Amino acid sequence: MNIGIVGSGYVGTTVAACLADFGHEVMTVDVDESTVTALNEGEAPVSEPDLGGLLDRYAGSTLWATTDYDDLVDFGAEVVFLALPTPANEDGSIDTTYVEAGAEALGEVLGDLDGYPTVVVKSTVTPGTTEDVVGPALERTSGLRVAEDFGLAMNPEFLREGSAVADFQNPDKLVFGTSDDGDRALDALEAVYAPILDAQDVPVVRTGLREAELIKYANNAFLAAKVSLINDIGNICKEFGVDAYEVADAIGLDDRISEQFLRSGAGWGGSCFPKDVSAIVAAAREQGYDPELLQAAIDVNDRQPQRMLDLMDQHVDVEGERVAVLGLAFKPHTDDVRNSRAIPIVEGLQERGADIIAYDPNPAAADNMRERFPDVEYLASPSPTLSGAHAVLIVTDWPEFSDLDREFDLMSERVVIDGRRVVDRREGITYEGLTWE
Ligand code: UDX
Repeated sequence: MNIGIVGSGYVGTTVAACLADFGHEVMTVDVDESTVTALNEGEAPVSEPDLGGLLDRYAGSTLWATTDYDDLVDFGAEVVFLALPTPANEDGSIDTTYVEAGAEALGEVLGDLDGYPTVVVKSTVTPGTTEDVVGPALERTSGLRVAEDFGLAMNPEFLREGSAVADFQNPDKLVFGTSDDGDRALDALEAVYAPILDAQDVPVVRTGLREAELIKYANNAFLAAKVSLINDIGNICKEFGVDAYEVADAIGLDDRISEQFLRSGAGWGGSCFPKDVSAIVAAAREQGYDPELLQAAIDVNDRQPQRMLDLMDQHVDVEGERVAVLGLAFKPHTDDVRNSRAIPIVEGLQERGADIIAYDPNPAAADNMRERFPDVEYLASPSPTLSGAHAVLIVTDWPEFSDLDREFDLMSERVVIDGRRVVDRREGITYEGLTWE
């Protein structure tokens, strides 16, 4: 099949590379020249394991990038995915400007595509957006009609950063949301995913557009709330001197609870959970329903970094003193610092007048954080970061942090606040676990 993909961020690029790997011909469209150049040279514009290898293999043979939507016509796109960002507005609702603009630009060439092309929304959008914003934008500039001249579908992604390629290749489920067009859009999606459906027993949810949109939010809201719930329970555990990880291991044995997403600590960050939970809360309120439990999940998440700072305050006054922050990326194996729990930690330390020294095993994560906090000193290894520090806050569960031991002896005051349970308590350090002793 010939597949177009508009937007070359984490999602668009992963989908493009993986669909080429399925054996499809793929053309990506992005407004950013340097992204397009990188893709055509087989280089990933984002840091994601295995992505570079796939792009290197297919760029120039079955995968091409362009800045020009017109190129989709000669290419003969049969299905076009919209994988454009939906950033958050001030009130948490999503900003659909990019998706709408992309749909309008695609609409300009839609009439020149052969047959019954199908446009698939991959972006995370609140219920009704595909039908009420994307569809009308495509119709406006194309002069065509949804479900008569072209198909409209919604196919959410469930890719985790750091394992996006593997997640795409081995999905837990596929969700195909379509409008009523005699299954033509659905058939197009089935053809796109045929290589995986033929090879694996993947559950496929065939549903409507709004349902598909909501499934994505429900998925992320559920997981984020699960982490907030174990964090709430973890905070209770700490009050009683009980180890939340022992409790989590036990409750995770119940199939109904499952062992996954039970790591309590500094909370959730990244490009999805914070944005998506706030967006579905804002969208629900717009409809007249106040989702109190999801709001509480956000509140608990906001509180966790503050609890780390409170624990530090119980042991040391850091005004004018060196304080080390270990881990800047929102989770291990990425350079992404969006909504990282390190952000409120650094802000809290700045409020306290500390001299902040930070280290992340991924130098690109430090570069990204430097843009936001230029006054923090970023070092290239843990030892000099810890040297002379009055406290260290461990924010990200990078595996290499669990090897740290004698490095803590370099500190002036060995106050170790562990937000991810990566360090062992031992003699000679003042150790505080966030949800354990
Ligand atoms: C998430 C979803 O998992 C994915 O399906 C969706 O498409 C995008 O959002 P991602 O943001 O890449 O993926 O990261 P994920 O591994 O899910 O972790 C999210 C956050 O939760 C991280 O900050 C992580 O540290 C935190 N987390 C996760 C915990 O604090 N405890 C856990 O037990 C699990």
